[in-house]
Amino acid sequence: MTKLALLGGSPAVSGPLQPYRTTGVEEERAVLRVMRDGTLSAFLGAWAPEFWGGPEVKAFEAEWGAAFGIKHTVSVNSATSGLIAAMGAIGIGPGDEVIVPPYTMSATAMAPLFYGGIPVFADIDEDYFCLDPQCVADAITPKTRAIIAVNLFGQAADLTALRALADKHGLYLIEDNAQGPFAAQDGKYAGTIGHIGVFSLNYHKHIHTGEGGMCVTDDAMLAARLGMIRNHAENAADHLGEGDYTNLIGHNFRMTELSAAIGREQLKKAKNLTARRVHIAERLTAGVEGLEGLQAPKVRAKCDHVYYLWGARYDEKMLGVSRDVFAKALTAEGVPNATGYVRPLYMLSTFQKRVAMGREGFPFNLTERTYDRGLCPVTERLHEKEMLIFLVCSYDPTDSQIDEIIAAFRKVHENRHQLADVSLPAA
Ligand SMILES: Cc1ncc(COP(=O)(O)O)c(C=O)c1O
Repeated sequence: MTKLALLGGSPAVSGPLQPYRTTGVEEERAVLRVMRDGTLSAFLGAWAPEFWGGPEVKAFEAEWGAAFGIKHTVSVNSATSGLIAAMGAIGIGPGDEVIVPPYTMSATAMAPLFYGGIPVFADIDEDYFCLDPQCVADAITPKTRAIIAVNLFGQAADLTALRALADKHGLYLIEDNAQGPFAAQDGKYAGTIGHIGVFSLNYHKHIHTGEGGMCVTDDAMLAARLGMIRNHAENAADHLGEGDYTNLIGHNFRMTELSAAIGREQLKKAKNLTARRVHIAERLTAGVEGLEGLQAPKVRAKCDHVYYLWGARYDEKMLGVSRDVFAKALTAEGVPNATGYVRPLYMLSTFQKRVAMGREGFPFNLTERTYDRGLCPVTERLHEKEMLIFLVCSYDPTDSQIDEIIAAFRKVHENRHQLADVSLPAA
C-alpha cells in the first residue's frame, strides 16, 4: 500500500517548487536608467505639465493602453488606490449603495466606504466564483449607484450580463481586475468591459512593479477625474473648467518613475508569463480529471482564464474526508495549497461591529443594511468547506514537477481512507 507522506510515506513531489519570479536583467537595466537620470518621481501636486506624471509614467500608461486596446490609462500606486479613485471618479457619495461580491480581497468592498458609500454584498455563482447577475439584480434599489465586479482568480465575471444590467439601471460597472491581466470575455479584455477597470501590480500578481496599479477607461471625463484624485485634485480643479471636475479632493496615489520603468519591462513579458500560468493550470486540470469529488476550475464559455489561482471545488460528502485534512495531506506530499480563500467580507468586524469611539460609525448610520451570517450562502459554503487552491502565481513548477503535483493529487485521492483518523487543531 502507498503510504501518504502525512503518515510517514515519501512525498510525491521530489523537491521544493521554485518561487514565481518575473523580474530580471531587463528590469535591472530599466531601474538603472532611471537612477542615472536621477528623477525617481516627476509628479507635481500643482497645476503644471507634471501634474499628470513624468516620462516613464506617461510612457507606461500609453503602452498599457495600447496593449489592452483602451483609450485612457491612469497609473496608481496600488489597485486599492485605483479602486478608491474609481469610487471618487464616478461620484460615490454618502449613503450611495455599491454592489460588491463578498469573495474577494477586502479592498474591493472597502473602496466605497472612503466616500461614505455603502457596500452591499451580492452572492457569487458556484461555478465561476464571481458575482451572480441574478443576485446583483435582486440587490438593486433606488440608492444603488454602481457595481464592482471582481474577475476572480483570473477569470472574467459575467461581465456582459453585468454591463447590460448596469446600463439598464443607469449604474456604473467597475471591474476589479487585479487578478486578471489579459483574461478575456467575448473577445474583449477583462478590465475594459466596465466603465473603469482596475489592475494590480503588487508583487504577487502575474506581473508587478513591487506595488502598483493601473486604471483604464474609454471615458475621457472619468480618466481626468481618476488622474485628479491620484494627485491632489483640489490643486487642478480650477484649470479643468466647471462642473464635473470641481468638488474633488485628491490623494497621493502616484506611481514613481522607478515603478513605471519596471512596469514597462514587465508589460513586454506579460503575455508569455501569463501563457505559462495558463499552461500550468490547464495541465493540472487535465491531470485531476476524473477524480471524483474534485472539480477543477471551470472556464466560462467564450472566456480566457489567466489563472492567478487555480481554485478547485471539493466535495466533502463524496470524498468522505474534510477538505482541510485533504489539503494537509497534499502539503505533506509537497504541494503548496490554500483552503477557503477569504472569509466572506461581511464577516469582518468592519461590518459586524461598526461601533467605534462610542457611536455607530459613519457611513453605517446612513443605512438599514445588515451584514448577517447567511447573507451569501454560496460564498460561505465555498469558504468553509469547498474551495481548494493551488497558487499559480506564487510558484513556478517545471513540467515534470506539474506531473508530480498531479501524482500527489491522485495519491491523496486514492488513499484518502488513510486520513480517516487525522484530525486538525480547532481553528
Ligand atoms: C481582487 C483584488 N482586488 C484588489 C486587490 C488590491 O491590490 P493592491 O495590493 O495592488 O492594492 C487585490 C490584491 O491582492 C486583489 O486580489
